[in-house]
Amino acid sequence: MSGDFIDLPQVLTAQGRVRLPGSKSISNRVLLLAALAVGRTELREVLVSDDTARMFDALRTLGVAVELLADNAVAITGCGGMLPVRQADLFLGNAGTAFRPLTAVLAFSGGHYRLTGVPRMHERPIADLVDGLRQLGADISYLGVEGFPPLAIRPPASCALSTVRVRGDVSSQFLTGLLMALPLRGVETKVEVVGELISKPYVDITLASMARFGVQVLRDSWRCFTVRAGSSYCSPGVVHVEGDASSASYFLALGAIGGGPMRVEGVGLDSIQGDVRFADALASMGARITSGANWIEASSPLPEGAGVRLQGVELDCNHIPDAAMTLATTALFAEGPTTLTNIASWRVKETDRIAAMATELRKLGAVVEQGSDFIRVFPPVGVQGLRPAAIDTYDDHRIAMCFSLAALGTPLRINDPQTVAKTFPDYFACFAKVTRAVPVIAIDGTSASGKGTVATRVAQALGWHYLDSGALYRLTALAACRAGIPWDDEAGVAAIAAGLDVEFAGATIMLSGDEVSDAIRSEEISAAASRVAALPAVRAALLFRQRAFRRPPGLVADGRDMGSVVFPDSATKVFLTASVEMRAARRYKQLIEKGMAASIAALSLDLRERDERDSQRSVAPMQQGADAELLDTTSLTIETAVAQVLDWVNKVPKRG
Ligand code: DC
Repeated sequence: MSGDFIDLPQVLTAQGRVRLPGSKSISNRVLLLAALAVGRTELREVLVSDDTARMFDALRTLGVAVELLADNAVAITGCGGMLPVRQADLFLGNAGTAFRPLTAVLAFSGGHYRLTGVPRMHERPIADLVDGLRQLGADISYLGVEGFPPLAIRPPASCALSTVRVRGDVSSQFLTGLLMALPLRGVETKVEVVGELISKPYVDITLASMARFGVQVLRDSWRCFTVRAGSSYCSPGVVHVEGDASSASYFLALGAIGGGPMRVEGVGLDSIQGDVRFADALASMGARITSGANWIEASSPLPEGAGVRLQGVELDCNHIPDAAMTLATTALFAEGPTTLTNIASWRVKETDRIAAMATELRKLGAVVEQGSDFIRVFPPVGVQGLRPAAIDTYDDHRIAMCFSLAALGTPLRINDPQTVAKTFPDYFACFAKVTRAVPVIAIDGTSASGKGTVATRVAQALGWHYLDSGALYRLTALAACRAGIPWDDEAGVAAIAAGLDVEFAGATIMLSGDEVSDAIRSEEISAAASRVAALPAVRAALLFRQRAFRRPPGLVADGRDMGSVVFPDSATKVFLTASVEMRAARRYKQLIEKGMAASIAALSLDLRERDERDSQRSVAPMQQGADAELLDTTSLTIETAVAQVLDWVNKVPKRG
């Protein structure tokens, strides 16, 4: 994974088991409750990620002893409701599950605090929570824009009010924050919810977590909640955190689209997390779901492999707002449109998720309709199906993860993939473990060694696609030449490479509508190609274009860095070469046959120079990788060379 993007190859099938990271929602709740409780709590299988790191840091700053143990366990010595540090600045990143409850708890902690986050956190509304807390005497002021973080908190005024009203229709985290803080007041307090409470299952997690720490909230339907006088948190000793049900959704969807069975471990259908209901949504699309005590498994609809697909659905997703994003990308693989309704809360999450999902789904070829609280996805139709695209992630972990599913239909690039660290730091490693990518045979080697001919024949024998990557460098050189851009203008040539309008139809190559199959083979363009290929920005600009050739059933790619850089996970890697004399003689024969003048001595010199440039350049130098088979064709016929490559291919153990 590079820092800025990850390229996912198209995958053929998905199957296996994934141990889920701990639930973010449960982790951040129980971390805070353990800090407020009397006694020491050992929290097992806690999520270790950016969002929980914000909570760990905040608790430590507030003087709570937080000890990291082995195997994602954490020990917290609670402060019995009296946070030791009474003056602190807390930076909470973009962690809503840390910001909201901490605001509420600190409002009643009797100290002076400042709470800040990343710029997006400062765009996420918090007025409803602050209004509720102020009714109970809290002294909170906005340091930036009214109604949004950052916040300054001072000790509360004494307040005997016993009823507070809070809006429930923007974010259930306001109610959650309030409820978690109320036992600190010491008096009976009633919370009345104004408006329809959204995301109720998250409030259930709050109530269950508080109960685990000894505080029973009385609930009267979803309108009124009472925390009795004298309620206080008490450590239950050990708390096991369930696996994250939202994180489970990506793998269950992978199994439902890509065959399966795919099992997620750490959460069962009896979980307290609302997002386990995502499994029902998948089932309503036709997926096969089974489950046990601590696992859920998903497979594609029956009968497998007979072209039976998931069916588009219309679904109210208020109860599964996060996992619903996974449904939006699953919809790309369904028959007919999928409509997700009652998702207005998407607009105030890590980003405006309705707008972001619509924009990115369209890049893949879907038609998308959106409204203030719904999204409708029409999957792309036709033989082409999904098209390769670079997906932007808006600093939103769920966008990065849910778009990975598109790899079941196309190669794709995901920009800024490290955003998954918010809840699932090793997501892409898990993804790679349970998916089987379209196979690649990488044939690298020296100029005129015959690799193009061998690679084409191997592709024909297998019925696979063929990528002549050298042609892309040649096309770049030709297009730059036509545009009057000098070879050493790196940015200029890279822009040409990024915008190449090319079409490969068998042996015919078109550049902006002109046939250039012969023009790119001239000696002048050959020399120029080798020069532009040495420019790092040009190589970067052509990287995804090359990877997008990796389509089912397989790809044979020829070039200089196929096995080392472009397709490092190629199952078969070959380094093909021949003596300079033999290569010059072959090139000489080709040119003479085409009626062109040639000299063996000049060709030999030129080949030596090109070998030198290709193998000495700073980026992606041509060299035989330790994992590549060497094939010297000096004294081999093409048939023998092809047979040798096919023999190596057959020896690769098959996966899945
Ligand atoms: O394979 P070819 O001769 O058509 O390649 C043309 C030029 O492009 C050659 O000088 C090497 C360069 N090239 C490269 O640097 N990396 C590749 N993957 C393919 C070709």
